[in-house]
Amino acid sequence: MAQWWSEFNDDFRPHELPYFRKFVEAGGGPALDAGCGAGRLLLPLLRAGLDVDGCDVSADMIAVCREKAEAEGLAPDLYVQAMHELDLPRRYRTIVVCGSFGLGSDRERDRQALHRFREHLEPGGTLLLDIEVPYADARLWKYWLPDERASLPEAGRPPGEPRRGSDGSEYTLSSRVVDVDPLEQHVVMEIHAERWRDGVLEEAEDHRLDIGLYFEHELLLMLECAGFDDVTVHGEHTERPPTADDGFLVFVARR
Ligand SMILES: C[S@@+](CC[C@H](N)C(=O)[O-])C[C@H]1O[C@@H](n2cnc3c(N)ncnc32)[C@H](O)[C@@H]1O
Repeated sequence: MAQWWSEFNDDFRPHELPYFRKFVEAGGGPALDAGCGAGRLLLPLLRAGLDVDGCDVSADMIAVCREKAEAEGLAPDLYVQAMHELDLPRRYRTIVVCGSFGLGSDRERDRQALHRFREHLEPGGTLLLDIEVPYADARLWKYWLPDERASLPEAGRPPGEPRRGSDGSEYTLSSRVVDVDPLEQHVVMEIHAERWRDGVLEEAEDHRLDIGLYFEHELLLMLECAGFDDVTVHGEHTERPPTADDGFLVFVARR
């Protein structure tokens, strides 16, 4: 899974990088990429000469990120840690949480994560945390309706076209929705990844992915409860107020 993310996601939503980079530069001090994955944002920020640490709950993701950084002569401080247990030696001017909040977690842990982020900010520092709003994903949103939900779990989907990685192997990825609980705002998905070489299956992985869903006002309250009293919301990784048509919201919270 980490290999897939590393190989095929570098050009995924390219507008996010300049948005976050501007805040990291303006912050003028160390930054943390929390849930950095394989380094899609972290590596270009480091290349730009910015002082950025990374953390991720997945040791595989951190290993891939480290390998890619070292191949470029970069040596970031990377940590294998879950957000709700974040305990790092430095304090940051900026913390970026992109595509990672609410994953593999539950509400209590997500609340703890917001507290941990605030603890890891210097006074005046900024947390930038994005979410995809629950109504943005047509595949999932329809399961909020009881009749649609009754058809879950989805049947296994055929994998998409294999994609050739830089190591010459071919990778496939498929996912299915197992459960959607609108009361708990919680989704369970299963993801299946395969790596093939010369027609032989080399490795297969199955993962369960728990996704906690949040709406704008709920997350604003959670940030307030975590001690953030100055929070602005942006739409779609731009610096404008959000609209009902935005699929992503970014919460810009100052300590
Ligand atoms: C969708 S990827 C995004 C990676 C990266 N931020 C990016 O934008 O390319 C989500 C990442 O969050 C990590 N993650 C999921 N749950 C986490 C948690 N509770 N604490 C820390 N990292 C987590 C995953 O391992 C994965 O690398």
